[in-house]
Amino acid sequence: MSRPLIRVPPPGPKAAKVIEDHYKYLATTTHDPSTLPLVVERGEGVWLFDVDGNVYLDFSSAISVANLGYPTHREVMEAVVNQLKLIAHAAGTDFFNPYQVKLARKLSTIAPGVFRKKVFLCNSGTEANEAAIKITRYSTGRKYFISFIGAFHGRTIGSLSLTASKPVHRGRFFPLMPGVVHVPYPNPYRNPWHIDGYEEPEELVNRVIEYIEYWVFSHYTPLDEVAAIFFEPIQGEGGYVVPPKGFFKELRKLADRHGILLVDDEVQMGLGRAGAMFAIERFGIVPDVITLAKSLGGGVAPVGATVFREDLDLEVGAHSNTFGGHALASVAALKTIEVTESLLQNVRRLEPLFREGLGELKDRFEFVGDVRGLGLAWGIEFVKGGGSREHNVKVRGRVISEALRRGLVLLPCGKSAVRVSPPIIISEEQAAMGLSILGEAIKAAAR
Ligand SMILES: Cc1ncc(COP(=O)(O)O)c(C=O)c1O
Repeated sequence: MSRPLIRVPPPGPKAAKVIEDHYKYLATTTHDPSTLPLVVERGEGVWLFDVDGNVYLDFSSAISVANLGYPTHREVMEAVVNQLKLIAHAAGTDFFNPYQVKLARKLSTIAPGVFRKKVFLCNSGTEANEAAIKITRYSTGRKYFISFIGAFHGRTIGSLSLTASKPVHRGRFFPLMPGVVHVPYPNPYRNPWHIDGYEEPEELVNRVIEYIEYWVFSHYTPLDEVAAIFFEPIQGEGGYVVPPKGFFKELRKLADRHGILLVDDEVQMGLGRAGAMFAIERFGIVPDVITLAKSLGGGVAPVGATVFREDLDLEVGAHSNTFGGHALASVAALKTIEVTESLLQNVRRLEPLFREGLGELKDRFEFVGDVRGLGLAWGIEFVKGGGSREHNVKVRGRVISEALRRGLVLLPCGKSAVRVSPPIIISEEQAAMGLSILGEAIKAAAR
């Protein structure tokens, strides 16, 4: 496959039937068939094939899960098939197995920090964050948490309490876990102080640090009762927002001043997408706890992991699960990490292409308000234009549907942004092709 092929505008007849039946039987989640009526039948590398024979170039990695493309990388597939002939479920929290040990050793080795680490294995991002909540509370004896406005850490009650992305995620689910205080994220484009964080990054960083240390700690949150600060190194669901480079160094210092643990949620940005195995490496600090999921399973197995300082470990029986340390999932994850390591160079090589290509779109279209990103993790925020930063949700929706009609798959994020996050196996030629289709889609959406 060398280019997209649209035989019938999506949704074609077969796709329309699947969507109709979907709504009869499946619980409502997050689909938006008005902009993305995509009914997937199979995938091959960076290409997705729908049930009507259309072929799309994927710029979404199915929300940063299929980083190695579809169905997955050949080496991961071979490892999974071989493992399936031995054993898949090996009661990883009751029996011992060598597969999870190898994975945990690898994760401990590659995660930032020269200290000894331990790994809790699970099945999803929210579970990895729930484990981080429990580990940090248990080990510190403290109960409060800080997290950021715009953050997405999951949808179960604990992680949802940390999430502050959209009101619909939280509305009607109260009461959530008490003790979480949300503070502004240093979003260079949109922050409560209207600071241009690209021009004045230090000013923005100082305001956020001051907000936590002065306003929060000296007015309402008992400082010595804060267990951890949860953060995304780049906010994903919140809009692919990249904070100023120096922010996490200041946050690390703040945490150290007060004996607070830092939990780095790498569920969406982790494993290569940001041009390093862990996105936080691009900001040069070492967190105490790292959570992973999504791409860790190579697009084959649902795997989550909480990697933490060894001294934070729990006692027997305090936390566990059924599927953690699943043999098949562990083998898939280990091979995924190895393959990802070999692809980092590709991500770094393509970063300038996206920076320039998307930067051009910002210059060309007045309703492209902001373009930000690192590696192969980019956000484009649509605004009303003419100097206004008002969110333009309508144009964002049109861009996604115009792109799909031209054979390019995009997903939304934030209030009016799209994420550009192709599989990290993508070639330069495919990347350039996708950027060109994106430009056409934006032009069509503007009409
Ligand atoms: C940064 C981040 N953390 C946690 C989660 C939750 O992961 P899951 O949907 O696997 O529970 C997500 C999901 O989008 C995420 O992006």
